[in-house]
Amino acid sequence: MSTPDAAPASASVAGVQTLPARRDGLAGFDVQFASGVRTRCVTGAGALGHLPALAAEVGLTGTSGFLCDARLVFVQRALVESLGKQLGGTLARPVREDRKSLAEVEAMAEVLSARGLSRDGFVVALGGGVLTDLAGLAAALYQRGVPWIAAPTTLLSQVDAGLGGKTGANLRAGKNLVGAFHQPRLVVCDPAVLATLSLRERFSGLAEIVKCALLDPARDADGEPFLDRCERTLDRAASGDAATLAPLIAAALRLKAEIVATDEREGESGSATPRPARLRAFLNLGHTVGHALESATGYTRFTHGEAVALGLRGALLLSQKRGLLDADETARAVALVSRIAIDAPRGLTGEERAAALGALARDKKVRDGAVRFVLLAGLGAPQLQAVSADEAAYALDAALTLSPRNGSTFTP
Ligand SMILES: NC(=O)c1ccc[n+]([C@@H]2O[C@H](COP(=O)([O-])OP(=O)(O)OC[C@H]3O[C@@H](n4cnc5c(N)ncnc54)[C@H](O)[C@@H]3O)[C@@H](O)[C@H]2O)c1
Ligand SMILES: [Zn+2]
Repeated sequence: MSTPDAAPASASVAGVQTLPARRDGLAGFDVQFASGVRTRCVTGAGALGHLPALAAEVGLTGTSGFLCDARLVFVQRALVESLGKQLGGTLARPVREDRKSLAEVEAMAEVLSARGLSRDGFVVALGGGVLTDLAGLAAALYQRGVPWIAAPTTLLSQVDAGLGGKTGANLRAGKNLVGAFHQPRLVVCDPAVLATLSLRERFSGLAEIVKCALLDPARDADGEPFLDRCERTLDRAASGDAATLAPLIAAALRLKAEIVATDEREGESGSATPRPARLRAFLNLGHTVGHALESATGYTRFTHGEAVALGLRGALLLSQKRGLLDADETARAVALVSRIAIDAPRGLTGEERAAALGALARDKKVRDGAVRFVLLAGLGAPQLQAVSADEAAYALDAALTLSPRNGSTFTP
């Protein structure tokens, strides 16, 4: 396989290119951003065992700072020990969402410095989205930026947080309020590590996969349309079976890659740039209500994926109410979304509902006083549409209403 240039200086055509068949049996593609930056994505069971070789393929051969979620030292001992030996030692970090702070980014930068990392070195981030967001930000800031590798170990981070270059930390006022765009040079997704994840965490990631399948149902997922494969294999995927998870992860990651390749900074690249056909904002399907639910319940009741699954329900039923999505498509999509187990009570107190409505009104996608939702004008046809406060409330209530497994009707 050819070795790509490490950091092309000039702007080039954005897109995603499949890698030729590999001797190690792993699948992969390169994401080329218009800015000239390139990210290689490699997926497959056992991929993490090849991480040092994969790093070398993208030109990363200097000193490495191997930042690792401390929990993995216990639950993935053999993997962490083996990588630690090859990467000059393990820098285990006790990360948690409620400590996803700049203080931790500073602590990471200090350990990278103590490790002797210089500008020709690179950071390896092994862990869930909390670890990869923080380590990516540390890599963006350390010596004004060193390359980094995302090795996401939760299903959510494999299909979402690992790719796209958003790094960040929380402030007291809210999540991810400080951060930087810093694209990883390499993303390695190994479904084998997901076996030690809890069922709840796997369902959380599956919500993002289902979201992707609704955005692009006909996408090829190892010889089968993505949505069909999701419907057929969701339960086995939830059990953690790596072979079942692999094609779902690959399809979701590839969809995200194609979207971010043409919208590197979420539509912020300047008015002269033509609007990309598939806005990065489409990846927020289900997230407007999802974020409101997370915020109204203090980020402690629902996992992110549970909130997204509920938010998808709200977006689907609002799409139907608006006459965008017909009854059959709504029923099909709601039935799939309803298979994402929600391991938390859905009922909101009056205070929580008011907080969720307040969060919807403040959503960052609010423009000219109207909340903008990603709705579906058919499966695979996302649209960004302004909705009224009443419609946002409808979506919130629809999200939380339990319905028969295949039911798509909702009466507020
Ligand atoms: N940068 C982005 O584009 C982006 C996108 C989505 C989410 N995020 C961020 O990602 C974070 C959520 O990520 P997450 O859901 O991965 O949470 P997380 O990193 O907290 O991981 C969830 C739990 O799983 C544990 N864990 C990780 N890998 C494991 C494994 N293989 N086996 C057993 N346990 C394991 C972690 O220690 C943690 O307890 C949020 O902070 C969110 O803001 C970022
Ligand atoms: Zn999400």
